[in-house]
Amino acid sequence: MTEQDFVLKSHPKNVDQGSITYRSPSNIALVKYWGKKENQIPENPSISFTLDACATTTTLAFKKLDKKSNKFSFDLLFEGKRKDDFKPKIETFFERIELYLPFLKAYSFTIETSNSFPHSSGIASSASGMSALALCLMAIEQQLNPDISDKYFNQKASFLARLGSGSACRSIEGSLMQWGHHKGVPDSSDLYGVIYPFEVHEVFKNYHDTILLVDKGQKQVSSTVGHDLMHGHPFAKKRFDQAHENLTKLKNVFATGNLKSFIEIVESEALTLHAMMMTSQPYFILMKPKTLEIINKIWAFRKETGSNICFTLDAGANVHVLYPEKEKEEVYQFIKKELVVYCENGQYICDRIGFGARKL
Ligand code: PMV
Repeated sequence: MTEQDFVLKSHPKNVDQGSITYRSPSNIALVKYWGKKENQIPENPSISFTLDACATTTTLAFKKLDKKSNKFSFDLLFEGKRKDDFKPKIETFFERIELYLPFLKAYSFTIETSNSFPHSSGIASSASGMSALALCLMAIEQQLNPDISDKYFNQKASFLARLGSGSACRSIEGSLMQWGHHKGVPDSSDLYGVIYPFEVHEVFKNYHDTILLVDKGQKQVSSTVGHDLMHGHPFAKKRFDQAHENLTKLKNVFATGNLKSFIEIVESEALTLHAMMMTSQPYFILMKPKTLEIINKIWAFRKETGSNICFTLDAGANVHVLYPEKEKEEVYQFIKKELVVYCENGQYICDRIGFGARKL
């Protein structure tokens, strides 16, 4: 598929108005995307678990205008209240996707959105938010053009979501999503996410992710700035090569359920992501002292008990604690006894692998 294949050229139906709701989950990357080219094209392939509990629900109401406008017309409500400071982000998103959805200026929209997780939790809502909105827009395209296949629907929803926020393209389906071309995965693409196509061992089918909310404040450096700092980064080339190598290694890990190797790759990816931040110019640190305390506790617990617990991080201080279903009791007791003290107001979210977005 190329970008041109996603341009809606003509459509047989006319739709005057309607309303669509999607619930779209967040995702957590195992191999990280950090560094991009123009138009949210990733510098390296990434792979993620689709989550379940952390999600955004978006209702898109639309009404045809008497005549096509020369600007986008939309209102935005977040958790029931008008949220005009989110509008520039949506405006930019609409500008990026208008070429592919030429009907955008023919409608006025009301976007109502809410998150399952607390707003100031330090959990990025861009992946779940942009994927939910992209799916609602694709549902309009489907009403205009009912012949599109489910495969095309999901590919284009992922393609559009990517233009909103790169990692959002991995939040359409589940439960293991790859985005970015990798030579070992024939259908993989820089343009959209695909379901990981190879064998996945049972152990990975119901993995848990408990998210420890270490710092709920606003990040000092946005991921847009962070990605940008990979341009001219002294270790960029090696890092992008490493992501390809880690994906190659994961093929065997996913097939055999080799948790020791899984842990090594996933934790190394998390620390490499933060190492890239610390070695950018200008450099910055998003981890907090409590992030490191938690990591050390996890390592000690693993050493003592032989548990398969491990951690990953996204672009922030929160820690995602990953563990298999079989070990959930012991790990949960450990989290409650030893890790929750490091969470802001004792807050954490019990999540697990999910199966993608749903129309409500
Ligand atoms: O989708 P963005 O631009 O917010 O970037 C997300 C980057 C990481 O979360 C740090 C890694 C990833 O692959 O999700």
